[in-house]
Amino acid sequence: ATATRALFMLFGATGDLAKRKLYPSIFNLYKKGYVDNDHFALIGTGRREWSDDTFRDVIVESVSANADSEEQAKSFASHFYYMAHDVTNPEHYDALSDYANKLDQQYDTNGNRIFYISMAPNFFGTVAQNLKAHNCLSDNGGFNRLIIEKPFGRDYDSAEELNNALGKSFNEDQVYRIDHYLGKEMVQNVLALRFGNPLVEGIWNNEYIDNIQVTLAEKLGVEERAGYYDGSGALRDMVQNHTIQMLTILAMEDPISFKDVDIRREKIRALKSMRVYTEDEVRKNFVRGQYGANGDQLDYRHEDNVPTDSITETYVAGKVLFENKRWKNVPFYIRTGKMLSDKFTRIDVVFKKPLIDVFAAAKGSESELNNNVLTLFVDPVNKIILRLNGKKAGQGMEMQPIELTHTQSDEEKAVTPEPYERLIHDAILGNATNFASWDEVSRAWEFADVIRQVWDKDQPDFPNYTPGSMGPDAADELLERDGRAWVFNS
Ligand code: BG6
Repeated sequence: ATATRALFMLFGATGDLAKRKLYPSIFNLYKKGYVDNDHFALIGTGRREWSDDTFRDVIVESVSANADSEEQAKSFASHFYYMAHDVTNPEHYDALSDYANKLDQQYDTNGNRIFYISMAPNFFGTVAQNLKAHNCLSDNGGFNRLIIEKPFGRDYDSAEELNNALGKSFNEDQVYRIDHYLGKEMVQNVLALRFGNPLVEGIWNNEYIDNIQVTLAEKLGVEERAGYYDGSGALRDMVQNHTIQMLTILAMEDPISFKDVDIRREKIRALKSMRVYTEDEVRKNFVRGQYGANGDQLDYRHEDNVPTDSITETYVAGKVLFENKRWKNVPFYIRTGKMLSDKFTRIDVVFKKPLIDVFAAAKGSESELNNNVLTLFVDPVNKIILRLNGKKAGQGMEMQPIELTHTQSDEEKAVTPEPYERLIHDAILGNATNFASWDEVSRAWEFADVIRQVWDKDQPDFPNYTPGSMGPDAADELLERDGRAWVFNS
């Protein structure tokens, strides 16, 4: 491993994400030697008045499950420093700058700085601007990179405003917008499968593919996050970012190389061909849902901190079209929701049936052939299944579905980094492949905004699906209308 020297500055150091994901991820990188153990430090900031010791106790606690020994966790935590910080107070940035310079020297970090903003989104721009204005960026030859959490805006206009604010302090190539779905092993495997196999890429088009289905299902409801979620809804929370990113990877043309600039170029081209709907098309091609009650499970409107007249959607299904030569007439169906039958993410690529069923023709019977389906299971297991038609053993020529399955082994699982570990590592290396560029994010907002606008005009008939189901009936009808069905439906 090449170890990188760096000083991290984390905004939102007392937050939940930091404890659950960021500290364990940085710890794993430290253990594996990807951050230089002698030459890294992290300044955590938050509103609370914590001492370094309190902060370090939190770090030890959050990494202890992965630590080989308490000593290892403690020696990791010794690199962490805390500063109480009010993000709107300019003087606090002066203090941060002084502290950063001091730690730079103490740890000899080559002036490399990684800023990580993981806090309420209305402060993203303020923080970024103050960092520059108060000399928190290093100017002695090291790199300055900004990792920024979601949500990146709540519509095109607010995203653009945020982007302009960031742009005053950081260039686009210094900004790493997190979409943790891009850090998932199986999402990355889509690219390996497509571009590493002529067998796959050769049939990855409208001549052979009938439709593609992407499902991001969650078993849990809104939990304690209603404060954020009710103002967001599934369209902003899961579709504009994760789902569209997955679609893009499925739809993009082959990049000329695996460099981040080359991959992003193709992703943007794909997104530009994604049809932005008219109002009528939105009503026809998109479905929203909100969960009702079921037994002990309260309906969404009676969850903690949700207004009883909330019309926030907890479910979205839709049909997406890429208007280019490869995908003409191939619908991409998407769906995502809370409180569904299970927690899983999967991609089903449904192939066309043979033009002629010679077996049925010989018998003069109905065709028994199924569509070939390539299913990529992204979560919770990493698995690939290819469903084919084969011969039933025995006399005659009866057909039956057969499945070729590849499941990730325990050894592979053990070396698979969590999305945050992988993404932070990429940012440390300066590799932006698995981060969302502004052109991607903005295009995705343009797509989502029209849907939002139509939905804000129309009154939905909520609640309309039962917890534990796969969503409202209208999501099934969306495919039935096209003579199709969800591959997974139970
Ligand atoms: C987040 C959403 O981005 O993704 C959450 O804000 C959602 O609402 C989560 O639960 C799902 O991520 P994962 O990795 O658990 O599928």
